[in-house]
Amino acid sequence: MNPVVPDSPENANGGPASSASAPVAPSASPAQQAPLRNGKEPSGASGAGDPALSASAAVLLADVMEGMGRAPKSLPCKYLYDAAGSRLFDRITELSAYYPTATERAIMQAHLDEMVACLGRRCLLLEYGSGSSLKTRLLLDQMSDPAGYVAIDISEEHLAASMRRLRAAYPHIPMRALAADYTTSFAVPSAEFEAARAVVYFPGSTIGNFEPREALDFLTRMAGAAGPGGGLLIGVDLEKDRPTVEAAYNDAEGVTAAFNKNLLRRLNRELGATFDLDAFRHRAVYNLDEGRIEMSLVSACRQTVRVNGHSVGFAEGEPILVEYSYKFTLARFRRLAERAGFAVQKVWTDANRLFSVQYLRVR
Ligand SMILES: C[S@@+](CC[C@H](N)C(=O)[O-])C[C@H]1O[C@@H](n2cnc3c(N)ncnc32)[C@H](O)[C@@H]1O
Repeated sequence: MNPVVPDSPENANGGPASSASAPVAPSASPAQQAPLRNGKEPSGASGAGDPALSASAAVLLADVMEGMGRAPKSLPCKYLYDAAGSRLFDRITELSAYYPTATERAIMQAHLDEMVACLGRRCLLLEYGSGSSLKTRLLLDQMSDPAGYVAIDISEEHLAASMRRLRAAYPHIPMRALAADYTTSFAVPSAEFEAARAVVYFPGSTIGNFEPREALDFLTRMAGAAGPGGGLLIGVDLEKDRPTVEAAYNDAEGVTAAFNKNLLRRLNRELGATFDLDAFRHRAVYNLDEGRIEMSLVSACRQTVRVNGHSVGFAEGEPILVEYSYKFTLARFRRLAERAGFAVQKVWTDANRLFSVQYLRVR
């Protein structure tokens, strides 16, 4: 079984949880359980070799400077999730306008029996981007003799706190927490669990944050991680009218704006950047042609920001693209899933077809 169940998450990338990119595979042998170091080396132009920076800050700086050199400027959305960002995301999920969480939870509650039947006995549940693992509890409550639960998230402090609460609530279920960037290579300690199959759980429509090509690669890697006999239980947000979607990402309380701007606060804190949070405004628009929400930070004026010795100029109205959130039709997602090596076994939706939860079987 699972002899070592540490309280704090292991850093599965062997370095900063927010590192680089590559595949994901559950390890079959203890040797493969050793932490992997696959972090992207910072490029010379953007802070590598700055002795004042920690390794994780150097990676962050390299990613930021790469994004600032693009047209339009962009920042990787994974950096939204530091401890404060994760707390703000949790507040977003409680907003009445933010339909994805409430709808996904309701779908799960309505069809839980069928979902746990898909997972089967002695299932090892691997959750990518576990956050506060709240919807996961519905599964853990009902699963038949679960072999274990592995929570994988980039937001290390938040993951540790969630894991402490989960271990207290489910002392009978072996659990591991991996602080990892799931877009990188990392080893899942599957061999520690006496599992009949592995199922990846990827709720929250986080798949929508990937561009189509990346989504295909990511799903393909998930099929590899689940392996033969395994599957993927995934939450997928569906295309719908513009007002409903835009309201979800532009809440009147300003929580999504605070979540977005927290990224600049993080860059100020971790890189000594000089972003004036009042000089950027939150924007989230539904691009119907592309079928995605585009969330940006827009410069309110012409300005220059310092980022660890670099000057970054902004024109008035110039955006920094922070996150996409693609919405799918059921047919489009089915094609994507099939190309990634899955067969769509079950699709559950709400009566208004706002959201879907799907069980995909590895082919
Ligand atoms: C949209 S939230 C979803 C949270 C939760 N699963 C839910 O359904 O409410 C995305 C989660 O994925 C995590 N995350 C984002 N990018 C990540 C990455 N590259 N690697 C690992 N975790 C990541 C975030 O920290 C956050 O917890």
